[in-house]
Order: sequence, then C-alpha cells, then structure tokens
Amino acid sequence: MRSIQWRIVVIHVLLIVLAMVLISVYLLNRWQDYYLNLFEHDLELKGRLLRDQDLLNDSDLIEAAAVLGFDDEQGSNLVLLNKSMQAIVAYGPDIGIKPGSSLVENKPVGDLLSQPHEEGPFVGLYYQGGVEYLTMAIRAGGHVDGQDIGAIFLLQPLSGVYSILRDIQGTLLNATLLAVIVITILGLALARTITKPIVEITSQAEKLAAGDFDISVRVRSRDEIGRLAEVFNYLTKELRQSLNAMANEKGKLEAILEYMSNGVIAFDFDGRLMHINPKALELLSLPEEATTDEVLAKLKLGTANDILRLAPANLELEFDDTNNTVLRAYLAPVKSHSEQLSGVVVVLQDMTEQSKLDQMRRDFVANVSHELRTPLTTIKSYVETLLDGTLADQSLALRFLGVVNEESDRMARLVSDLLTLSTLDNLKGHQKQPIFLDELALDVANRLAVAAQQKELHFGISLPEEVPSVLANSDEIEQVLVNIVSNAIKFTPPGGEIMLTVDVDAQNVTTLVRDTGVGIPPEDLPRIFERFYRVDKARSRQMGGTGLGLAIAHQIIEGHGGRIWAESEPGQGTVIGFSLPLVGAREEAGND
Ligand SMILES: Nc1ncnc2c1ncn2[C@@H]1O[C@H](COP(=O)(O)OP(=O)(O)OP(=O)(O)O)[C@@H](O)[C@H]1O
Ligand SMILES: [Mg+2]
Repeated sequence: MRSIQWRIVVIHVLLIVLAMVLISVYLLNRWQDYYLNLFEHDLELKGRLLRDQDLLNDSDLIEAAAVLGFDDEQGSNLVLLNKSMQAIVAYGPDIGIKPGSSLVENKPVGDLLSQPHEEGPFVGLYYQGGVEYLTMAIRAGGHVDGQDIGAIFLLQPLSGVYSILRDIQGTLLNATLLAVIVITILGLALARTITKPIVEITSQAEKLAAGDFDISVRVRSRDEIGRLAEVFNYLTKELRQSLNAMANEKGKLEAILEYMSNGVIAFDFDGRLMHINPKALELLSLPEEATTDEVLAKLKLGTANDILRLAPANLELEFDDTNNTVLRAYLAPVKSHSEQLSGVVVVLQDMTEQSKLDQMRRDFVANVSHELRTPLTTIKSYVETLLDGTLADQSLALRFLGVVNEESDRMARLVSDLLTLSTLDNLKGHQKQPIFLDELALDVANRLAVAAQQKELHFGISLPEEVPSVLANSDEIEQVLVNIVSNAIKFTPPGGEIMLTVDVDAQNVTTLVRDTGVGIPPEDLPRIFERFYRVDKARSRQMGGTGLGLAIAHQIIEGHGGRIWAESEPGQGTVIGFSLPLVGAREEAGND
C-alpha cells in the first residue's frame, strides 16, 4: 500500500468497517433484548392463559396447548408440574422431560418453590440438546392424570430469535460489504482527484531532474495542490531563467578567456586541470589537448597541490626556449561559498618583450653615458693640460684645441643622433609624400662621391628604367641612404668597390648597397641594427662612429612599413638592403 490513493481507500474502508461493526453490535444487542422481551411476554401471556383455563381434563389442555403452539411444529414445550415440581405430563416435541423427572434445578421452577407466596411467572433459560430455550414457570391449579397441578412450565426454543438475529446480521454484513465496495470505488475516485495532480507534478519534477526545463503542470484547482502546482511552475520558470543566465555568463566568460591576451589555467581542489585557454597553451607551447601532467611539467611549480599551497602568489617564470620566454604567473586561490579553498587560477602574462625592453633600456642608458663620458674625459684631460701651462706652447696648444674641437664635434654628433632617434621614436606618422628612390639615390651618390674618391674607392650606381614612387619622408630616406653608403665607404679599404642598386618588383622598391669591404662576422650580423652596436668598438670609435647610424636607418625603415637587412661575408664584403612598399603607380613627372 505505497500509494496515497490506496492509503486513502484503506482508511475509508477501515472507518466504514469499524462503524458498521459498532453499529451492528449495538443493534444486534438491542434487537436481541427486544426479541427476548417479546418472547417473554408471549410466553407469559400463554402461561396466564393456560393457567386461567380450567384445566380439568386432558383433552381441553391438549387442544389449548396445540392452539397456543405447544406442539412438534412450533417446537415449544408445555410441562405440567405437581406440587413438588415434578413433571406430570409434557406436551410438544420430546426434549427429554419425562413424567416424574424433577425440574427444581431449573431456575424459574426453583424460584416458585423457594417463594411459595409468589404466583410467578418466573423466567429463565434452559439448554437441552444444543438448543436454548426460554423457560417460564407459573403457579397453577387443577388436576391431571389424577395428580394435583402445582405449576405450569413452558419452554420456548430461542432458535427463532437467533435466526431473526442472524438474518439481521446477514443484512448488516451485506450492507457493510456494499458500503465497502462503494467506498472503495468512491475513495479511489476521490483519491485520484487528489493524487492525479501530485502524480503529474512528480513526473514533471522527474523530467526537471533529468534536465528538461521546458515543462509546466496544469493548475486544476485553487486548493493546496493547485498552489503546489503554481509554485512548481514558478520554480521551474525561475530555474530556467537562472540556468539561462548562468549559461550566458559562462558563454561570456569563455569568450573572454578565449580571446584574452593573458594565459589562464584553472586547477580544481584535487589538482585536476579544469580549464586552459588558448593563450596559455600558446605561451607554454602546449598542444590543444594538453593533460594536467603536461601543464604542470611546463609550469615547473611542482604538483598541483604545491600550486594550491603557493596561492596567492606573484611569480616570475623563465623558460630556456629559443625565445627566452619570461612569464609572470599570478596564482589566485579560488574560494567556495564557505570560504574553503576549492581550486587555483594561474594567470600567465607574457613578459618576454617587456623584459627585453627593460634590458635594452638599461643597456641604452649605460651606452649613452659611456659614449658621452669618453669624449668628455678626453676634453677634460686636454683642457687641464692646457691650464697647467701648455697654453704657452702655441703649436701644442693649437693641437690640443684641435682635439678638443674634434671631441666636442663627436659629442654634438652623438647628441644629434640621439635626438634624431628620439624624434623618430616619438613621431610616428610624420609627413610623407611620393618620392622616387632613383632620384634620391643619385643625389646621395653625388654627395658622397667625393668621400669615396678620397678613399680611392670605385663608386657605381645602377638604376632601372623606371622606378615607381613610394610614399615616404624624403629627408629620412635620404638619411638612411647616407648612413648605409657612408658605412660602406668607412668599412671598405682603398681600392674597393661600392655599388648602389635600386630594384623594383610588384610590391616593393628595393635599394641595395654592396661593398667589398671588411665584412661583418655572422655572430654580429643580427645585432648591427641595435643602438650603439659596433663590431669593433675601438676601431669604429676611432673613425668617429657612435654605432647609431644603422639603428636610425632601421627605425626609419620600420616606421615606413619597410624592411632592412644585412648580408655579409667577412673579408669579402657586405650588402645592406632595404625595401619600401609601393603605393599606386608612379605619377608622371613632367620632364622625364
Ligand atoms: N658596410 C659595412 N661593412 C662592414 N661593417 C659594417 C658595415 N656597415 C656597418 N658595419 C658594422 O656595423 C656597425 C654599426 O654601424 P653603424 O652605422 O650603426 O655605426 P658606426 O658606423 O660605427 O657609427 P655611426 O654611423 O654612428 O657613425 C659598425 O660599427 C660596423 O662594425
Ligand atoms: Mg655608420
């Protein structure tokens, strides 16, 4: 009986049965009393009637007894007793009362005997042969069979009463059965009206638990169950909305994680990898389906438990890869509602560029101070010597002043180069206009031809028929050309050759300066565009170089969206080239 429906039915049935049993017991008792009373009265009446008959002879008595129902058919018995209460004669079916047998044992007879002044009738019960009789004794007179009659003793079987009572009992039982059946049917129907909405809500709740949120239950009534249905619908709606909101948030978060420029890795409390975003994979150079162990191995921070213990922390991680990657790792503990540690998030920031820049800045400051100090020291020492009396020796003084002048020029040049670089750093997107590189190259070649001649160098130039214009700042490109060509002159011994070439292809105009000079060792080649970088510091300085020429050229070309490079074979010569992107066709110059 697990369902509510059956429980309701059973309770109703039990109530009905209980009620019927109580009613039956009460009614049957009442009826039994009633019928017994009725029989008693009947018997009394008959007794009195018989007594009042003048029972003189047997024939009258037999007739009267038969009329009153004391015969085989009715089963009632009439016994005439003598004064000593012994049976004289019995009418009716034979129930074992023989003439002469004493009946004093029987209560009403005993009562008569013990109360000689009472007439009766006295009433009692008598059992004989499994039958219960209602008995009654009444004092009487007359004679029979030659004996004095002392009393009349009547026995009436109660089987009639009991059969009536049994009938009533049967009826009551039938009524109870009928009531039970009706109540069962009605109860089932009633219980159904209660349980059906509950069953419906339950089945919908099960669907809800299984993850289906597009459900609702019908509200059938305004009662408690109706309210339950309403609340259930409301809860479902709220749940659906919260889940949608959560999904949205999750989507947003995932998009943010996906596209953010920092790497994010999340571990749960058991040290399992929960999430790693693409940037983190890239920073750690891991494949997309990296496992927890692979990630931990890359991070080199120990086990996930160690990381959990470390958090919160701010660490710098260095990697010995080709890039010399430097990552900053922020370890942030993730706490649950109850402030319990539930995981850790590692945010990785790529600091490689930053740390390179820091290093470069430090180098730059060191270089600048060094470069300025050298000429300053020279100037100071010469001036001190002059002050110490060398001034008197005019020719020596003049020579010293010449050195001082040279060193001041050098300092001025250095400062002006630094200024150039700084302007280039600060001023992106300066004035550009279409320029023609062939014209510019010719210009520069003319300006530097004298210097080349003085060094006994062959200076050649090769230009194509037509060079399209490029969008550029003419002064800056000219400076690039001057820097590159003057290097070639400077680093090529007398008798060498310098060739200036301009080439055009679909996208670029490329300028190459080729010399047959000392060349650059391969290990220095990648660095010559760095500020202050010189292959042979001492020699270059001797030649008045500061190591900024190519750095300036590099800066300018980058600023124009072009490319500058160097190729060299030590002892054979060097090629420095740069290319600038073409924009549009060459505008027809009027006087070609
Ligand atoms: N054509 C070349 N042949 C050989 N070495 C070269 C050539 N051009 C540049 N270099 C090397 O590259 C270094 C950097 O050149 P860069 O022009 O920047 O400096 P610099 O010529 O020494 O000084 P600055 O140009 O500032 O007077 C030079 O010191 C030199 O060692
Ligand atoms: Mg130079």
